[in-house]
Amino acid sequence: MRCRVNGIHLGVDDAGHGAPLLFVHGFPHDRTLWAPQLSGLCTRCRCVAPDLRGFGESDVAEPFGMDQYADDLAGLLDARRIDRAVVIGISMGGYVSFALWRRHADRVRALVLVDTRAAADDNAARARRSDLIALAESRGAGAVADAMMTGMVGRTTRERNPDLVLALRDRFAGTPVAGLVGALRAMRDRPDSTPTLRTITVPTLVIAGEEDAIVPRREQERVSAGIPDARFAVIPGAGHVCNVERPAAFNAIVSQFLSDEGSIP
Ligand code: MLT
Repeated sequence: MRCRVNGIHLGVDDAGHGAPLLFVHGFPHDRTLWAPQLSGLCTRCRCVAPDLRGFGESDVAEPFGMDQYADDLAGLLDARRIDRAVVIGISMGGYVSFALWRRHADRVRALVLVDTRAAADDNAARARRSDLIALAESRGAGAVADAMMTGMVGRTTRERNPDLVLALRDRFAGTPVAGLVGALRAMRDRPDSTPTLRTITVPTLVIAGEEDAIVPRREQERVSAGIPDARFAVIPGAGHVCNVERPAAFNAIVSQFLSDEGSIP
């Protein structure tokens, strides 16, 4: 479905009943990244998965930025009449989750931060973003997809599930260039979220794919160590999109966390 939020339309899936979970996808994905979680968790939870502006079925509309994405999520919770949700953000979705916490902490019941980092881009990373922006503008989304595919899944998935790699690549190639460029600028210019970590007072689970080649393990450990009482879990045999590479393991870890923090019986 499409839902009107902050003057634009966002694509969104809203499935199941129970404690609300809000899923925030990474770059350059869309809400379909969460299909294994929607099917696996919607029997016990209400799963809400939007396309961020510029991705999937959402409008491609300025301004782009972590704060704007976060305000869109808060607006979406209003539109779907949800007070508070467990927010599950992967990679760029984690950057958005930090912004959501800074701006709308009262909407966050708990956090699951997947394959993400708190630090801002350093100069080298900022230069790589600018290169990718130039690539997107000159050669389109397919070229960005090709440039990003190597690190997107882990070694085990590349060897054992090449069809998943092809499916992800095809999906990326359909992303509107303006949405990609907006998100690349938003990531390049995002603030350092390290000072945010110690302010997080809700139950938090940090999940790392063992073979993640995009966000090094030490960055993920820093996120976990910085948040009071956060839990840390590693999914073996999975890379940057561990939720689709090993969906059963991912869903089991999230279900245990939800049960322990009281969202599900
Ligand atoms: C993502 O998966 O969202 C991106 O790879 C994150 C990033 O490039 O910093």
